[in-house]
Amino acid sequence: MQEKQTPTKYEIHPLLKGRWSPRAFSQKAITETEIKTLLEAGRWAPSSNNLQPWRIIWGLKGSDTYQRIFDCLVDFNQDWVEDTPALMLGAYKKDMKDGEKENFHALHDLGLFMGNVCVQATSMGIAVHQMAGLDQDKAKEEFEFPDNYHVATATAIGYYGGNPDTLPEDLQDEETKIMRERKPQREFAFNGNFKN
Ligand SMILES: Cc1cc2nc3c(=O)[nH]c(=O)nc-3n(C[C@H](O)[C@H](O)[C@H](O)COP(=O)(O)O)c2cc1C
Repeated sequence: MQEKQTPTKYEIHPLLKGRWSPRAFSQKAITETEIKTLLEAGRWAPSSNNLQPWRIIWGLKGSDTYQRIFDCLVDFNQDWVEDTPALMLGAYKKDMKDGEKENFHALHDLGLFMGNVCVQATSMGIAVHQMAGLDQDKAKEEFEFPDNYHVATATAIGYYGGNPDTLPEDLQDEETKIMRERKPQREFAFNGNFKN
C-alpha cells in the first residue's frame, strides 16, 4: 500500500490518522454487503432534529447505475475514476418539512454521514475519495430527484492498494507524495475572538 505520513501534533485515533483519499484503487471488487455496511455507518450519524436529510445513490462497477453516476463526473474526475470499484452520489433534502422552512444544516449533516462512512471504510481497509467535481444539476435530473433536493458530491470507493502508475501522469506525484499536509490549528481554532 502507498506509504503516507500524517504528522499529528496530538495523538489521534489510528482510523482517522490512517485515512487518505487515493485516486488509484486496488482492483479487488467491492460487494453490495460492504456498501450497505458503509451506509449503515452513515445511517447512525447525528443530524439536526434527527431529520437525516442525506440521500445516497450507489452503484457497483459494471452496473447501469455506476455508469450513470460516472457520466455525471467532470472530465478531471472521470480521468482517474475510470477503474474504481464503486461510485456513490451524496444528496440532501433542502427543506425541513415539504415546502416548509429551509434546513440550513442539511449539507452539514450529509458531511457527518460521510464522516461516519470514511471511518467505517478505513476500518475495513476501504478507501473513500469524495468529489465536488460533478454536474450536480445533471445528476439531480438523471436520478429523478425532486426540486427540494440538491446533489452535493460524488464518491469513489475501493480498497486501498492501487497502482499509481495507472493514473494520468499529472496525478501520480500527488498519489505518491508521502507527507500529508494540514493547516496548523492556530489558523482555524481560536480560544477567544476570530483572528484572520
Ligand atoms: C467535499 C469534497 C470534495 C472534493 N472534491 C474532489 C474532486 O472533485 N476531485 C478530487 O480529485 N478530489 C476531491 N476531493 C478530495 C480532496 O482533495 C482531499 O480530501 C484533500 O486533498 C485532502 O486529502 P486527503 O483526503 O487524502 O486527506 C474532495 C474532497 C471533499 C471532502
